[in-house]
Amino acid sequence: MTTLKNDRYLRALLKQPVDCTPVWMMRQAGRYLPEYRATRAKAGDFMSLCKNAELASEVTLQPLKRFPLDAAILFSDILTIPDAMGLGLYFEAGEGPKFRSPIARKADVDKIGNPDPEGELQYVMNAVRQIRKDLQGEVPLIGFSGSPWTLATYMVEGGSSKAFTKIKKMMYADPATLHSLLDKLADSVIDYLNAQIQAGAQSVMIFDTWGGVLTPRDYEQFSLQYMHKIVEGLNRVHEGVPVPVTLFTKNGGMWLEKIAATGCDAVGLDWTINITDAKARVGDKVALQGNMDPSILYAPQERIREEVAAILDGFGHSNTGHVFNLGHGIHLDVPPENAGVFVDSVHELSRKYHK
Ligand code: CP3
Repeated sequence: MTTLKNDRYLRALLKQPVDCTPVWMMRQAGRYLPEYRATRAKAGDFMSLCKNAELASEVTLQPLKRFPLDAAILFSDILTIPDAMGLGLYFEAGEGPKFRSPIARKADVDKIGNPDPEGELQYVMNAVRQIRKDLQGEVPLIGFSGSPWTLATYMVEGGSSKAFTKIKKMMYADPATLHSLLDKLADSVIDYLNAQIQAGAQSVMIFDTWGGVLTPRDYEQFSLQYMHKIVEGLNRVHEGVPVPVTLFTKNGGMWLEKIAATGCDAVGLDWTINITDAKARVGDKVALQGNMDPSILYAPQERIREEVAAILDGFGHSNTGHVFNLGHGIHLDVPPENAGVFVDSVHELSRKYHK
């Protein structure tokens, strides 16, 4: 299918047989690794690291040097699109991302344009090209974007949020303005992900980190609808090879069938849903990615193996596609050795389900 040395991850997403269950970790390149902290210090700050293709590639490959992971994920951030739209992204130490010019009203939405992936966002495409070169066909490269709803939460709140007060006010008082923002974001995400695919991303994932804070009706109208539009706008085959698409809505387990109905290849699960139930609900419609609680990585190593075994057993014998992952990003204070135990356990304990 491809010239990859290890294509387990792509095969599982396409529901093809594999020798063992593929595994990667959300946020696998990051602060829990001392070598990441060293490269970031060399770059100066997080965005400078994202904008330097050689260093972005270096940190992408760092976790693969330590652990036998089955996929690499582009080192970048979901907030590159709003930054390219002119909102002025910056990171305040210990406070997460912030925007200098958040979106407050219709005039702000009318002002923003669709960033050119090979213009303002060319640094991301350069990173994709550099990583593909440096990976030398070992494992596939995952490209990604935030969902329109999740990007809009940061753009309207001006940064991270707990209560989502501003965006919910906009959603209920002026839904047309929010829809206009979400529609612009969906168009930009389509262009951005298609450009990543063109540059060499072999699969793409959409992070809907905050879809789960919506009511079921609002989720469909303000988040899922736009992810559906994106799935339909993506180039799902590149140079004759399928490019699988994964949708991940954190806390979205109750909407699994609806997410699967978008036509995506795989659905990412957090740890609040039992994978046996999830599989029964989607059947062979989509592959599933997940779903160990990232906090289990604080546990003694035997406990990590037990949890991996339970999730593998929960998915069981089947060719309907399972990519093992954490249910959300790895925590920054997890001992790297525990991540190693996690990855090895998935490979070792899953072989018996693929005979
Ligand atoms: O998974 C990977 O290894 C690839 C890289 C990646 C990053 N961010 C690097 C990053 C990915 C896929 C993301 C996605 C992302 N970014 C999401 C969606 C996934 C999720 O976790 O739900 C979200 C919501 C963001 C927004 C964002 N970026 C936040 C909230 C933060 C601050 C986090 C913090 O604790 O300070 C970032 C910065 C960021 N993105 C870091 C990394 C490694 C930390 C920056 C640093 O080095 O200080």
